[in-house]
Amino acid sequence: MPEGGGPVCVCVINLKGGVGKSTISALLARHGYQQRNLDVLAVDLDPQSNLSQALMRDNYRLLLSRKLPSIVEVFNGYRPPSPQRTGPRSLNGSDAVQTIARSGGRTLQLLPSRFDFSDNLLGSVRPDPRVLARFLADNFQEKDLVLIDCAPTESILTTAAYHASGYILVPVKPEYFATIGFPLLKESLSNFSSQNRGHSIDVCGVVINNAFYDGGNNGGPEKYRALQEIKYEAHENGWKLYDHEIPHSRGFPKMMRGDYSYVGNAWMFSSFAEEFFESIGL
Ligand SMILES: Nc1ncnc2c1ncn2[C@@H]1O[C@H](COP(=O)(O)OP(=O)(O)OP(=O)(O)O)[C@@H](O)[C@H]1O
Ligand SMILES: [Mg+2]
Repeated sequence: MPEGGGPVCVCVINLKGGVGKSTISALLARHGYQQRNLDVLAVDLDPQSNLSQALMRDNYRLLLSRKLPSIVEVFNGYRPPSPQRTGPRSLNGSDAVQTIARSGGRTLQLLPSRFDFSDNLLGSVRPDPRVLARFLADNFQEKDLVLIDCAPTESILTTAAYHASGYILVPVKPEYFATIGFPLLKESLSNFSSQNRGHSIDVCGVVINNAFYDGGNNGGPEKYRALQEIKYEAHENGWKLYDHEIPHSRGFPKMMRGDYSYVGNAWMFSSFAEEFFESIGL
């Protein structure tokens, strides 16, 4: 456990879409809670809300229809009037989160997102990117792990994720242009660090996701080329590359829907998860 207490905060970022950020965030949050007995808060910072849907499943519809608080209210700083109450209310930590699982003294909780998140932000004055970090510092110091799923495009939300995080996990897919987002990420991180010199933030590692693993099909020369490129670029940037890859598996999309009838080689995720938790000291 790191010195000083408080949670280890990790944001999952790649400024390239569809590389598995939300899938990995959901699986790591569950693995941390179930296998490593951690008290976990997952934060969905993406208006697409894929992490919220993966963790809440059907209950996510209820969140929308009941207009329950979400990350939108965290950035706005209050709960708007409701049919039960005509005035705005202050928002505390327990109002804003959904409890996904509870066991003994620990929980797996989610700070959910909403599709209208971007509209809400754009409709107001430019939000303060430190709001999320402050909210977490004020309300979730007892957690062991905070895991933040980010959108693929750089925005004020990326800066908000940096302010709240000590580590960055970078998923990457072994494909053509695999590392196209690396220079952008490097630049955005060094801009952040030069403007926030008191803040220590590091890439804990790059993980290869959706690696071809199909009973003997190793993906062929294209995958090999992409892997070489990823290794080279990660090394150039001084970023650790995790030894364990996450295989391509039809089991992952099913598991996201809560269907464990066919897990396939998705069980191999655990090897990466163990390596990841060791790397962040949990
Ligand atoms: N290892 C894998 N094997 C098979 N399918 C996968 C794997 N990882 C992710 N997927 C699938 O790929 C798609 C994209 O994954 P995901 O939504 O996690 O990516 P993302 O990086 O969060 O995307 P976005 O940039 O849009 O937020 C999903 O349909 C997901 O189920
Ligand atoms: Mg996503």
